[in-house]
Parts: sequence; structure tokens; C-alpha cells
Amino acid sequence: MKNKLFEHLTQYGQEHLLTFWESLSDLEQQELATQIEFVDFAQVADLYEHRDDPAESLTLADRATDPPAYKFSTVTDPTPCKSRKPVSFQEAVSAGQEVLHQGKVGAILVAGGQGTRLGFPHPKGMYPVGPVSEATLFQIHFEKVLANSLRYGYPIPFCIMTSPATHNETVDFLEQKNYFGLKKEDVFIFCQGTMPAVSLENGRILLDSKGGMALSPDGHGGMLAAITRKKTDGSSVLDRLRQRGIEYLFYNQVDNPLVRICSPEFLGYHLLSGSELTSQVIRKRFPTDKVGNIVEVDGRLYVIEYSDLPEEVARRTNQDGSLKIWAGSIAVHLFNADLLDRTSKIAASLPFHIARKKVPFIDLATGERIKPEKENAIKFERFIFDLLPSAKNAVVVEVDPPNHYAPLKNAPGSPSDSPETVKRDLSEMYTDWLRKAEAVVDEATPIEISPLFADSPESVGQKIAKGTRFEAPTYLFCSPPHFN
Ligand code: UD1
Repeated sequence: MKNKLFEHLTQYGQEHLLTFWESLSDLEQQELATQIEFVDFAQVADLYEHRDDPAESLTLADRATDPPAYKFSTVTDPTPCKSRKPVSFQEAVSAGQEVLHQGKVGAILVAGGQGTRLGFPHPKGMYPVGPVSEATLFQIHFEKVLANSLRYGYPIPFCIMTSPATHNETVDFLEQKNYFGLKKEDVFIFCQGTMPAVSLENGRILLDSKGGMALSPDGHGGMLAAITRKKTDGSSVLDRLRQRGIEYLFYNQVDNPLVRICSPEFLGYHLLSGSELTSQVIRKRFPTDKVGNIVEVDGRLYVIEYSDLPEEVARRTNQDGSLKIWAGSIAVHLFNADLLDRTSKIAASLPFHIARKKVPFIDLATGERIKPEKENAIKFERFIFDLLPSAKNAVVVEVDPPNHYAPLKNAPGSPSDSPETVKRDLSEMYTDWLRKAEAVVDEATPIEISPLFADSPESVGQKIAKGTRFEAPTYLFCSPPHFN
């Protein structure tokens, strides 16, 4: 076996991967051989060779204009948006509810990231963020899907994308929690692919152990390949969703518990504008805000990451002083299943992005594992939002952070996007709902509302008598009913 592998690897200058072959057990040798079999070495070589090519987005920045947009009903900012076609709130909600009642909408949660910044030794979805109940991110997302399933009368299929770093623990956790009330057959857990990390200096793939490469998840864009990968029975997860009649897929990241999963209003703007891919955005607070910028260039939408947007372009303003490039992606999207099908067959649909990182590696001379002090490696990742230019009539929907966006990114104690800020933002939103329902909430009283209890100020109002007083930490919830 070794000779064959050696011959194969030598073509690409990667034969060092077998340096410790003789010291490995039979099983370890087999595992390494399997890893090698799954790597596209020609692709890795090509990516390394083009590592310094300027990002395509750089050539777009100068011609970038603002994208066509709708405003979600909770947005109060009056700054006008460029419109594709006027759609009223009521029209949007009705159109969205119709496809939900027809059972055409599924949901996908991407949860394959390693959560390095948070510093939590488990999948991020297991992090407790409920300000009173300590509900985990997974629980909150699952309850939203269950609540919608009950409301619209069909089991909304819920796809969870994991990575080798998060897969087993996620599966065990969700099984142990009984899928928070969803039925097992309505939950589709699948694992994304990986890419090897290469040495910055010479493009050689790094070894993480004597018998294993340094592999990392291939980015949330890995969702496209993972959801369309055929299993042994010849069908992919997407095929199975389509067999159930799913035509639209709501996508969000595990880190944001404020997301309104399968919001009919959001669906409606997508449907009535004839869009194949619609993304939620927030209005950037200042020109260099650290979010992906959604822009329009020659009639197509693109994301330009903040690091690739020249400051001079970022600072351009309209006559009323508002930013020309204002739309910051919050990574909530709606995909037509057709778009996923079509683009999955075109290899170049999603380019790889390059990130220079510190990656621990085995020193080939000594066999020791080294933890580098500075960036020593390149990781390759795909981003799902790079499907935007392939989508017909793509649009964005502006949402307001207090009602839609409070991501968990950073470690406890960090000034933003930390467990404390997420809990605070959740509690503030729920307090606002109660007050809109004319309840009285004492200042600084933590409030939490389970998605199974209510999902809006109006639905809270149907369950809470006007004037009800909340003076101690309160969690309003319903036990998950069994969905039939
Ligand atoms: C991301 C977006 C940014 C956006 C912000 C909103 C990118 C490159 N940037 O930033 O434009 O403004 O979110 O919150 O995406 N994930 C996987 N598999 C992977 C990598 C990530 O499933 O291989 C998942 C993670 O679990 C997480 C999400 O994707 O749920 C976001 O990944 P992360 O790397 O944290 O993106 P950000 O840098 O926060």
C-alpha cells in the first residue's frame, strides 16, 4: 500500500505525509490512506499557487452600488432603499404564509464551526444562552422550528450541518434531548467536508499527528456539497427534502438566537420579487463596520468582506449623507432548492477563500507537535454567500438588530457578541414584547419567552392579561407538545 500512496503523493510533492508510516499501527495506516484518498491534491496545489491573487471582490468594489432591498416591518430607520418591485407588508406575509401552509419550506442550521473565539470545548449549539432558563442555542432553534411546524400544520424538515469537529457530540446531545420535541425523521443531520491546511512557506500539507493530516471544516459554503452529496442509496439530503415537497430552504447560523426562522414576511419578499436567494442585512453603523457588505455590481449581488472593501469606497455617501454601501450581511438567507441543485453541478460556483492561520503541526524531523506563535499555514474555506451572483433577482431584506441579530461569537467578558450581551439582548427583546402587550416589567428584570409560548408581541398579548406585573426573573414556556 505504501508504494502506491508514495507514487501518488510524489506527483504533487506531498510524499512527506508518509514520513511516519512505519511507526503507525495497521489501523492508523488504513486511516491515513483513507484521508489521502479523499484529498484532491491537484486542487490543493492550484489553490496554493494562486494564494496571492487579489480577491475577486477587490475588482468589484469600485463599481459597487447598493443592492435592491426591502425593509422588515420592525425596522424604524426611514432611509430609503433601492427597490426592485414594491411589496407591502401584508402582501409579503400572505405570500409567505401560503407557502408555509403548503408545506414547501424547510430549514437549515449551520453548526460546523469550531467556535475558536468563544473558547467553549463543545459545539457552539450546546452553549446556554437563555437569560433565565439557560436554554442552549440548539434548544432555541429547535423550538422555533417546532412552533412553526405546529402553526403551519406540517413537520418542517430541519437540517443541521455539522463538521467532523462537532458531529458526534451534536448527534449525541440532540438524541439525548429528544430533538427538543421534533421527530427524529424530521431532523437531517449531515457532516460537511474538510480541507487540509498547508504550510504557508511551501504548500506542503501539515500533519496534525504522525498518522493524520491537519484538516479543518471547508467553510459554511461546504453546505452546498454536503447537502447535495449522494448517499449509498443514491439520494442526497436535498433530494429527500424535495421528495417531501420542499422548494425553499431557510438558512441561519447557530450563533444567532434572535433569528426569526421561516419568517413569513421574509419569505414573502423573496417570493414576490422572484428572487432565488434573499439575504437579511442590517444597516451598517459606520463605514468600516466589520460585516460582509452586500453590494450590486452589473445587476448581480455579491458579498465583499469588510477586509476587502477599500476605505475610500466604504466612505462613499448619498446626498442625504447615508452610506452608499450600507447593507451588512447577518448570514440569514433563503434559498430556492432549484438554485442549490443547479449550482451544485458547477464546480466553480463557490470559490475557495484563503485564511492565514496558526495551525499546530508535527515537525517532520523530530516527530514533535509544535504550536506555532505566528501564522504558519493556509486554510481553505468556501462561503455560502458566494452563491449570490449565481442567483436570479437576488435581493436583501433590511432587519433591525434588536429584533433579529445578537450573535454569540466571543468569550465571556468580551464587550460585544459575548454570552452576556446575547442574554441581555434576548431579555431586552422579550421585555419589549411584554410591554407592547401592556404588561408591566420592572427595570432590569430578566425575561425569557420560549418560542413555543409566543413568537411576537401580538402572540404574547393573546396569552398575558394586560397589566400583568413581572418583578422577578421570568421564563414563559410551554412543554413541547408531540408533533403528529
Ligand atoms: C460571518 C460572515 C460575516 C457576517 C457574520 C454575521 C463569513 C466569512 N463571514 O462571520 O459576513 O457578517 O457571520 O454573523 O462567513 N460554520 C460552519 N462550517 C464552517 C465554518 C463556519 O458550519 O466550516 C458556521 C459556524 O458554525 C457559524 C457560522 O458558520 O455558525 C459563521 O462562521 P464564523 O466563522 O463564525 O463567521 P464570522 O466570522 O462570525
